[in-house]
Amino acid sequence: MNFTEILKETPKTQVKVLPTVIEITAQERKMIKDAAKHLQKKYGDYENRDCIKQIHQLASYFLPERILNIAADFSSDFSETQYGALIFRGLMDVDQESIGATPPNWQSADYSKFNLYGFACALIHGALPSKPVQYYSQRKGGGLIHAIIPDEKMKETQTGSGSSTDLYVHTEDAFLKHQADFLSFMYIRNEEQVPSTLYSIRSHESIGTKHKPLFDRIYKIPKDANLEISEDEENALDAVLYGNHQLPFMRFDAAEQLFNPGIRQTEEAHRYLTEFWEEARHLIYSGFTPQAGDVILVNNHLCAHGRSAFKAGVRNINGVENKCERRIMLRMMSKVSLIDMRAHTLTEDPFFVIEEHLGKNFELL
Ligand SMILES: [Fe+2]
Repeated sequence: MNFTEILKETPKTQVKVLPTVIEITAQERKMIKDAAKHLQKKYGDYENRDCIKQIHQLASYFLPERILNIAADFSSDFSETQYGALIFRGLMDVDQESIGATPPNWQSADYSKFNLYGFACALIHGALPSKPVQYYSQRKGGGLIHAIIPDEKMKETQTGSGSSTDLYVHTEDAFLKHQADFLSFMYIRNEEQVPSTLYSIRSHESIGTKHKPLFDRIYKIPKDANLEISEDEENALDAVLYGNHQLPFMRFDAAEQLFNPGIRQTEEAHRYLTEFWEEARHLIYSGFTPQAGDVILVNNHLCAHGRSAFKAGVRNINGVENKCERRIMLRMMSKVSLIDMRAHTLTEDPFFVIEEHLGKNFELL
């Protein structure tokens, strides 16, 4: 079968809704940069708790009105036409020279180079409003921003450090009850020109009626990249869809819930998930290739994300492979309410989430 025939065979994607693209104007970009610089001068570091505590007020004060309005709509619009992802094109100018060569992995990244970008991301979350938090389940916390950098040693993995295999679409930390509400991905560089992959639950026709069994709490939701499933994970069951029955939210991770070799869904659960995935996989959107300074903001209950396989440090120009700097992306996660998840945060730090798996906490000394 040649390529044209394959295209004919492939069912046409019925895209109902698409992520919203917002072109940031030069004036708006300047306002955001000036705000980040001002906050850097005042607070030093985007981790500064006084800054994070006041991030909503700071966002209202410093961000351009158009962005504040867009963010406010996004945070409370769960309608049929809300895709669950906003693409801010050119939110920041990235000074590539001051970033320097991409480090070999996230462990060796110098976060002081990302400080200004950290403030800009925090302001965007603040505008929703949502509070930047850190998760023990991800890098043992590791701060409010995680640099996502392809790591040669990890290239085959289904993690942010992977590159050579497709990263299946997933909602972040689908295995937590208190997963992030919003995520931002700021692209510091993407010289390889890797398209981002997004998939919205709103792309399905009549999801609530057609996939009703996904509201039942009969699914095993294993932890990330965890090939040996513990007894707890075997026994804890949850729903894939939740919230409003006509226009639901989702906790979905194709790699873990369907293709993890360690997972044994019941025959019934496996069948429903497979039927869902058969529809979902044709609704994945990869029409946007982020450039340095772009930010993708995601409602983690509506929209899943992933990435196609790529060769780290290689840019293809007219069929010729050229060496380039490897990709760097900064991820920030936030929660709308610190109160709702208080049973799963550190006693002395309500911004630090210690949930391990579906309502069960890590036992930290
Ligand atoms: Fe992810």
